[in-house]
Amino acid sequence: MKIVIVTGGTRGIGRAISLEFFKEGYKVIAIYQGNERAAQDLKEEFPNIEIEKCDISDEKEVSILVNKIYKRHGKIDCLVNNAGITRDGYFLMMSNEKWNSLLNVNLTGTFNVSRAVLRFMKVKKLGGKIINISSTSGVAGQIGQTNYAASKGAIISLTKSLAKEFASDKINVNCVSPGFIETDMTASLKNKEMISETLIPLQRFGQVEEVAYLVTFLASEKANYITGKNFVIDGGMIND
Ligand code: NAI
Repeated sequence: MKIVIVTGGTRGIGRAISLEFFKEGYKVIAIYQGNERAAQDLKEEFPNIEIEKCDISDEKEVSILVNKIYKRHGKIDCLVNNAGITRDGYFLMMSNEKWNSLLNVNLTGTFNVSRAVLRFMKVKKLGGKIINISSTSGVAGQIGQTNYAASKGAIISLTKSLAKEFASDKINVNCVSPGFIETDMTASLKNKEMISETLIPLQRFGQVEEVAYLVTFLASEKANYITGKNFVIDGGMIND
């Protein structure tokens, strides 16, 4: 059975990714931090999905958890770095706290989990797949999101560099950059209809499952010749 770790795997896009892997027969380990309710709901509905609480920005916590997962399952086939936060604000009002706390989760968190997992993937010599979740903000930029866009842009560069560094280990590393997707993150947007009509050629927000299909494809053997690439999934919104 293939083993996949999905960070932020208990709600939103991450939950859909966890469920899609589960349907495909993977052993899924979903990592979350804050929302106990979402974690509990997933546990009750899908008792065979393993749920683990861990702050990905804390290197020690990550190392202990990934060691535990490796010991329990003997290998890690796939990692999806999906956990991410927003701390929006205009640039001249951007506090150091907002900047640093976001970078610590989105970028350093991705670094922490990737390094912990890659150590085991390399030693095991079975190859592997890593899929990082970026954003159209990381490709095209966004007003009020300089911290978020910087973190997501860096994730794309991290992906490209990891892909080159681990290609000889048959570990493929790719990136998925969603545009507007129906989740808690976008639920508070007041001008959804206007955004759909004016910015998105397909005239609607994406569904979480649509992102999950792309992620599970990239994790599959059908995608063995794809590495170091960023895939934008945004209803045709940006020119990438
Ligand atoms: P969400 O807010 O619904 O879920 C985020 C998940 O990340 C939660 O499970 C949370 O527990 C986890 N998380 C947050 N901080 C963490 C930490 N320090 N340690 C461990 N886990 C942590 O988010 P959503 O909307 O599902 O987004 C998922 C990913 O997709 C994020 O990386 C986001 O930036 C990206 N994205 C989302 C878009 C959208 O329209 N919702 C658009 C583009 C990208």
